[in-house]
Amino acid sequence: MTLPASSAAQGPASLPMVVPDDGLPDRVTIYEVGPRDGLQNEKAVVPLDVKAAFVRRLVAAGLPVVEATSFVHPRWVPQLADAADLVEALREGPRFEHPVLVPNERGLDRALEAGCSHVAVFASATETFAAKNLNSDLDAQMAMFEPVVRRAREAGADVRAYVSMCFGDPWEGPVDPDVVVRVGCDLLELGAVQLSLGDTIGVATAGQVGDLVRRFGAARVGPERLALHFHDTYGQALANVHAGLQAGVTTFDASAGGLGGCPYAQSATGNLATEDLVWFLTGLGIEHGVDLDALVATSSWMAEQLGKPPASAVVRALS
Ligand code: HMG
Ligand code: MG
Repeated sequence: MTLPASSAAQGPASLPMVVPDDGLPDRVTIYEVGPRDGLQNEKAVVPLDVKAAFVRRLVAAGLPVVEATSFVHPRWVPQLADAADLVEALREGPRFEHPVLVPNERGLDRALEAGCSHVAVFASATETFAAKNLNSDLDAQMAMFEPVVRRAREAGADVRAYVSMCFGDPWEGPVDPDVVVRVGCDLLELGAVQLSLGDTIGVATAGQVGDLVRRFGAARVGPERLALHFHDTYGQALANVHAGLQAGVTTFDASAGGLGGCPYAQSATGNLATEDLVWFLTGLGIEHGVDLDALVATSSWMAEQLGKPPASAVVRALS
C-alpha cells in the first residue's frame, strides 16, 4: 500500500491512498469537456478572455485533450457563439489542436476556416433527442454527418463521434442498446476514429455500462475505440467509470469542477467532475498525467468567475 505524502498532515489529504488493482488498465486518457459541455450550459455567457484562460489553465494542469468549443448554430447555443474568436485567441500555429464540435457542413466550414484539425460530430440514439438537439431524426442525422466526416478527413482533420442518450432518454425512457450499437457502428463506418458513448442525463448504472461495451465488442468494436461520457445526475458516474475500466475502456470524458449539462435535455446535470475522476484513478494507481492541485485551483477560479460553488466533491474537499 502506498500512502500519500500528505497523509500525516492535518486537514483533507490532497492525494488519496494508492492501492492498485491489477485487473484494470495502467493508464487512461482524460478527455476534458468543461469549456464546451460545461460552458454551453451556463446561463451567463462567459467572456472570451476567461474562456481562453480556462482552456490554457486546463492544458497547463496536464490534461492531454481539451475540447474547446462548438461550431453549432449561434442561436441554438449562444454561450458558444464566439467559437471562431476563441480559436483565433488560442491558436498557436496554422492548425488548432483542440477538438471542437460540428453538427453539419456549415459548422465544419466554420471550423476548417478557423484552422481546426480535430472535430467531433454528435448523434442521438433516440428520435426525440435527435429532433430536439439537431432538428433531425435517426436517419437524417447520418445523412448530415456523412459529408462532414468525409470532408473533415479529406482536409486532414480527424473526427470523434458522440452518441447521446445511450443509457436512457428523458422523453422515451429506456433506450434499446442494439440501436446504440447500430448508430455507433454507422458513425465508425463513416470514418470516425473514436466513439464517445454519452449518458447525457446521467441515468446509467454500472451493469448497463459493461453490457453496452460488450455489445460493441460483439459488433467488432473493441474498447480501445470507445470513450465513455458520463453526467453525474444520480451520483453513479464513478461507478460507471469503474465498470468501463473493467471492460477495458481507457478514455473517459470529464468536466473540470463538474460543470455542464445539455441545453436541450433539461434533466442533464453536470458531467463527471475531472477532479473526482483524477482522485479515483490516482487511488487505483492508474496513470493520467494530471496535476490535481493545478486542476482544483483552475476549477475554483472558474467557479468564482461564474459566481457559484463547484459541483465537484473533490474540489470542495480540497478548497
Ligand atoms: P437548423 O435550424 O435545422 O439548421 O439547425 P438549418 O440547417 O435548417 O439552417 C438554418 C440556418 O442556420 C441557415 O442560415 C444555416 O446557414 C444556419 P440561413 O440560410 O437561414 O441564413 N446554420 C448555421 N450557422 C452557423 N453554424 C452552424 C449552422 N448550421 C446551420 N453550424 C443545427 C440544425 C444542427 C444547426 C442545430 O440544431 C444546432 O446547432 N444544434 C446544436 C445543439 C447543441 O449544440 N447541443 C449541445 C451539444 S450536444 C451535447 O451536449 C451532448 C454531448 O455532450 C454528449 C452527451 O452528453 O451525450 C456531446
Ligand atoms: Mg455531455
